[in-house]
Amino acid sequence: MKISLSILDFDFAKLNEELTPLYPYIDYLHLDIMDGVFVPNISFGIPIIKSLRKYSDILFDTHLMIVEPEKYIESFAECGSNLITFHLEATKKVKENIQLIKRLGLKCGISINPSTKLDLLFPYLKDLDLVLIMGVNPGFGGQSFMNEVLEKMAKLKQLQDKYHYEIFVDGGINLKTISHVSNLCDTVILGSAVKKAENKIELLKQIKSTF
Ligand code: DX5
Ligand code: ZN
Repeated sequence: MKISLSILDFDFAKLNEELTPLYPYIDYLHLDIMDGVFVPNISFGIPIIKSLRKYSDILFDTHLMIVEPEKYIESFAECGSNLITFHLEATKKVKENIQLIKRLGLKCGISINPSTKLDLLFPYLKDLDLVLIMGVNPGFGGQSFMNEVLEKMAKLKQLQDKYHYEIFVDGGINLKTISHVSNLCDTVILGSAVKKAENKIELLKQIKSTF
């Protein structure tokens, strides 16, 4: 069971300083890219990823919350991403994007919002390395986990026998909600819970021990 740490709530002027001590306790760095169109917020982009890449080999899990991700996938691959996840709701070129990400040699994921039906993903499951289930409406860190997505996660878990994707869950995960999702996913994304923790390393260790 793996942890991907979202940098969204960290101090962007001190990213490297705040993140480096945490790297031994996480599996991926989760990079939330927001365009102000697909979601009502703008976060950061390629220059930040490029800068972070200079200082570490940790796996970069890039979560594109942008419309028409096909326009930028190549750039996000070049700046150092290892996994690229795009939203099903944000593009008409789902198949093409999967092929492009794979051709670039990266792991490919698709994410769906809490209100998006899981069935819409079925045609693509066989080609995916990961499915990222949003536990909140994308756009902001620090929101509450929506329990209704557990049903989708359980169904994905059942279907996992037939395919080779991993299940990621993103949004609202903390020491309370982890118990609901730990049996239903392979990777949890953590943001504000870590940023707010008095002892960040202790929290990461505690989360790991729940699996
Ligand atoms: C939400 C982002 C999440 C978020 C996680 O749009 O995709 O990755 O930053 O943060 P928490 O854990 O605070 O919900
Ligand atoms: Zn995310």
